[in-house]
Amino acid sequence: MKVFDFIVIGSGIAGLSFALRAAEKGSVAVVTKGRTEESNTARAQGGVACVVSAEDSFAMHIEDTLVAGAGLCEEEAVRRIVTEGPERIAGLIALGMPFDERELPDGRRELDLGREGGHSKRRVLHFQDSTGSAIEKTLVAKLAEHPNITVMENHMAVDFLTARKLGHSTEDRCLGVYVLDETLGEVETLRSDVTVVATGGCGKVYLYTTNPSVATGDGVAMAWRAGAAIANMEFIQFHPTCLFHPDARSFLISEAVRGEGGVLLDAGGRRFMEDHHPKRELASRDIVARAIDAEMKKSGSQCVYLDISHQPADFLKARFPTIYETCLGHGIDMTSEPIPVVPAAHYQCGGVKTDLDGETSLPGLYAIGEVACTGLHGANRLASNSLLEGLVLAHRAFEKSTRNRQPSVHCDLPEWRSGQVKDVDELVVVYHNWDEIRRLMWDYVGIVRTDKRLQRAATRLGNLRAEVQEFYWNFTVTAELLELRNLVTVATLIVDSAISRKESRGLHFTLDYPEKNDAAYLRETILRRDY
Ligand code: FAD
Ligand code: SIN
Repeated sequence: MKVFDFIVIGSGIAGLSFALRAAEKGSVAVVTKGRTEESNTARAQGGVACVVSAEDSFAMHIEDTLVAGAGLCEEEAVRRIVTEGPERIAGLIALGMPFDERELPDGRRELDLGREGGHSKRRVLHFQDSTGSAIEKTLVAKLAEHPNITVMENHMAVDFLTARKLGHSTEDRCLGVYVLDETLGEVETLRSDVTVVATGGCGKVYLYTTNPSVATGDGVAMAWRAGAAIANMEFIQFHPTCLFHPDARSFLISEAVRGEGGVLLDAGGRRFMEDHHPKRELASRDIVARAIDAEMKKSGSQCVYLDISHQPADFLKARFPTIYETCLGHGIDMTSEPIPVVPAAHYQCGGVKTDLDGETSLPGLYAIGEVACTGLHGANRLASNSLLEGLVLAHRAFEKSTRNRQPSVHCDLPEWRSGQVKDVDELVVVYHNWDEIRRLMWDYVGIVRTDKRLQRAATRLGNLRAEVQEFYWNFTVTAELLELRNLVTVATLIVDSAISRKESRGLHFTLDYPEKNDAAYLRETILRRDY
């Protein structure tokens, strides 16, 4: 058993920001299942929403966030995250983050601000179109400077150790985590009084997603198994504009492209967003994604088109170098032709329910970043509010966990026991199940839902769950098997939450109940495992 003052699971913006602060106070393990940089954070394009301009105000950012959230945001969470943003951004800049600047006519320089859907002002700080990669590099560079931090790459968290599971008679709390060393194939036990889950989202539960392969919803599934409350999993955000190309199914075309004037066209070249919302391409994401879905179904075409070729080529190459190069690599020149795009699963608005300091309902366990549900996003996240939330909550969780330090619970934790069967043929079945889950979630639990489709999904997931459980108990654990187990759990949480919300709100749209029903559903969906 290895003992640390803090265990952080995940190495995106939330986990690394927490780890860098915590290292000032004690020993920190950063457990991450791939390379440190592999994360949703590293893929973020548009940037970080934050009030830094004199023409903007906290009140306006708060209002935009609340409008996008369709009545389900927790106002106090929104207020705190928005107002604490500038200080956290200043901290990130102090660490070396090179946000883009622009020169004013009088020669002074100021931060260059992008615009995205649902924002009433330009307020998105960015580094070209690869903001997340620059943030990740900035934070990773600082990790090496801290002797207190042990980075455990290729280590996958399996399950939390809790007092209840171990049969302790004391109040339930998180005591640490089992971690699979993917290289050795062995499970280690890590012990800490403060365990922070920062494992990001669950895009991989869908067939088409903007997320990288690490986004399999592990943190939510682990927290669920440990008995923590899970909130709002029906609100999965589909990004309207993912590149449509057979060789690049998960490459995002940033909303910032629409912010700089990009327009959406149907297969016949008609600008269709005018039919759907007065804000057209800059309506909030739920509206734009649904409009694209409707246009594709109406015309039978496989994609729509995003056209920004009216902007000067030099501007596009400087502002969107990654998107320009990637599209060009696939034979599409965005400076002279429209980009084919489709919606894809992008962001998990719900997650492990926390308070404003990242504390979950399980003492000793904190959740920060995309894995958490703080109340900021409600039924639909405002673009670029996620990186901001990760930064602010990492700081708040650090403050709370160090302020409230309980005397350590001394206990020996049992070693992991695993099934012994190793059968390579069976691994093929694991992959088939993985594909089946992702396809059925795409077909039945996508942008537009119905009761019938959700029930079908629930039935199929029930069968898959039983099969996966059998594998899990009998076979030696592998990362693939653990991810499959987590995917089926998270898919089930999404479907159960969606079935329970008999209305349409934000990202949850069902043909059977197409209107909002405030009288019955102006509340979060909370699920908690019964023991
Ligand atoms: P992540 O950055 O996803 O990090 C999670 C980490 O946990 C990873 O290191 C992963 O390997 C690790 N992990 C997962 N499971 C385990 C496990 N079982 N054991 C050990 N480690 C594990 N948001 C914005 O605000 N602005 C944007 O411009 C923006 N653009 C985006 C573009 C794309 C293409 C995508 C996919 C997302 C974008 N988002 C954006 C959303 C935002 O990037 C994420 O919500 C945010 O980065 C999440 O940060 P995080 O620290 O919570 O998790
Ligand atoms: C984008 O650049 O379009 C992504 C922004 C976000 O998801 O917040």
